Amino acid sequence: MNFLNCYADANRADAYATLEFANTYYLAYRDLPAILAEHVTGTRALDFGCGTGRSTRFLRKLGFNVTGVDVSEDMLRIARATDPSGDYRLVPGDNFDEADLGAFDLVLSAFTFDNIPGATKTRIFRDLGKLLAPTGTIVSVVSSPEIYAHEWASFTTRDFPENTAACSGDVVRIVVTDHQDRRPVEDILWTDLSYREVYREASLQTIQVFRPLAKGDEPYSWVSETKIPPWVVYVLRRAL
Ligand SMILES: C[S@@+](CC[C@H](N)C(=O)[O-])C[C@H]1O[C@@H](n2cnc3c(N)ncnc32)[C@H](O)[C@@H]1O
Repeated sequence: MNFLNCYADANRADAYATLEFANTYYLAYRDLPAILAEHVTGTRALDFGCGTGRSTRFLRKLGFNVTGVDVSEDMLRIARATDPSGDYRLVPGDNFDEADLGAFDLVLSAFTFDNIPGATKTRIFRDLGKLLAPTGTIVSVVSSPEIYAHEWASFTTRDFPENTAACSGDVVRIVVTDHQDRRPVEDILWTDLSYREVYREASLQTIQVFRPLAKGDEPYSWVSETKIPPWVVYVLRRAL
């Protein structure tokens, strides 16, 4: 599939950099401190698909020593400017061998796999697995398939009714309403079953899966978030 990374775009990067941890994004990050405390030993972390550095700075605040990698120079430029003491690297083609990154106790990917086609997902997960220290953990936050068929505090999909008929591997569209760039983001819909298959093929085992829901007492105007989980968080280890 010839799929373009819509984050390789200076205007999109500028808009994305204004996002923090509010609204629907709050739920993607809310449970991560507890999940990481339970499943990760050590502080060496790789933020795969670090973008403008939101997820990297989040890990740094939790005490991790983080290397952020991305394929978009536009996103990395902002990450470096926002966090000059951080370690942000361009890894073209996700060629980790060439990048000589070392071994990690944690590999976090926050929303990165939403933009990566299926066959490439397996190759990258396998390569990320090889970057783990023996007791290392991958935590991958992805969009749930349902995010593309409902309305949210941070997103709208109402202009894309075709999303509801999408199957695993199809391109779906969503607009981020939390920032100024209202051009649709093109993602690849990927079901839980398909992710489980990718993990098996990549020699990873699924340790735990979270689907965070809003409780209703948060300071945000929830739309679907109290009933439908917008995100899925996978905790993965290398298969024995
Ligand atoms: C939605 S942004 C998320 C950024 C950040 N993790 C956060 O939570 O704010 C997704 C990022 O994944 C990056 N990305 C997409 N495909 C990638 C790939 N194959 N390897 C590394 N990064 C990739 C994009 O360039 C973009 O910066």
